[in-house]
Amino acid sequence: MATEAQAQWVLTATGRSPTNIAVIKYWGKRDEALILPVNDSISVTLDPDHLSATTTVAASPAFPSDRMWLNGKEIALSGGRFQSCLREIRKRARDVEDEKRGIKIKKEDWEKLHVHIASYNNFPTAAGLASSAAGFACLVFTLGKLMNVNEDYGELSSIARQGSGSACRSIYGGFVKWCMGKSDDGSDSMAVQLVDESHWDDLVIIIAVVSSKQKETSSTSGMRDTVETSPLLQYRAQTVVPGRILKMEEAIKNRDFESFARIISLVEKWNHSEGTPQVAYTFDAGPNAVLIARNRKTAALLLQRLLYCFPPQENNLDSYMVGDKSILSSAGV
Ligand code: DP6
Repeated sequence: MATEAQAQWVLTATGRSPTNIAVIKYWGKRDEALILPVNDSISVTLDPDHLSATTTVAASPAFPSDRMWLNGKEIALSGGRFQSCLREIRKRARDVEDEKRGIKIKKEDWEKLHVHIASYNNFPTAAGLASSAAGFACLVFTLGKLMNVNEDYGELSSIARQGSGSACRSIYGGFVKWCMGKSDDGSDSMAVQLVDESHWDDLVIIIAVVSSKQKETSSTSGMRDTVETSPLLQYRAQTVVPGRILKMEEAIKNRDFESFARIISLVEKWNHSEGTPQVAYTFDAGPNAVLIARNRKTAALLLQRLLYCFPPQENNLDSYMVGDKSILSSAGV
């Protein structure tokens, strides 16, 4: 397909996506292949300086196959999830022209052009800090940029969802809701931004990295086991979550920390001694605690207490990561 002169070119695009932490969790799929959840979920997108994936994608007629490197190590692209994202983005690719370099790619050429993908996480991978969320959001965003895809963020989130469910929420900054959707083909299962990153910018999130080791049970298999074995899962999805989603949306809109913290659960002792809640906490699928302080003053006190009670070396605690709620509107570089 390429002329000899063209065979030399490499076209690249780079993007960065932060991870997100759910405050109403996604847990359980109704369709494993399309990654359709059994409940809506809400998350907060973090500050990309501390927890994000940076991905560069390159296309060239000289590449004989699609390949990917994660944190410098080549990984297999055989998994259906990567293939779904690549396929969906390729389907939406448009013409690209780089006049200066004399490169012209027709939209139908993208089906035949192979890509090389290099992705880095600036935080522990697969340790329960939603690295797949940042990774797939970034992959989809960056491939879209390379292939001149013109879809809106909702559509991109729906594609990122097919890489990893939680990734659909990392397409946006701020507080984000993943609407589970009702259709069988997943076309209405996508994320929407509830409020942007400037809406509640007092919040400070501290992540106590208790272990940066890869977790033993992945979220994917953990939730599969739950779907297969727990009679309570459907109860949670149908009876508990819908009401909580409404309350959480209300709390976020009104910057109502009391309600926000009550819903997540309190950092018991401290909040009891203060009368009104100062800190909220949540965990994802790993051991690392995510603490949300109502403002910077509380965050400073909290960090002081944490460092005193759990000094990093002595307690085998890897590190603390501190970040403002979210800064970039997601993946844009
Ligand atoms: C506990 O999105 O990693 O973080 O869709 O199978 O890739 P797959 O799972 P994943 O699960 C995230 C689970 C969670 C809760 C959440 O982020 O909502």
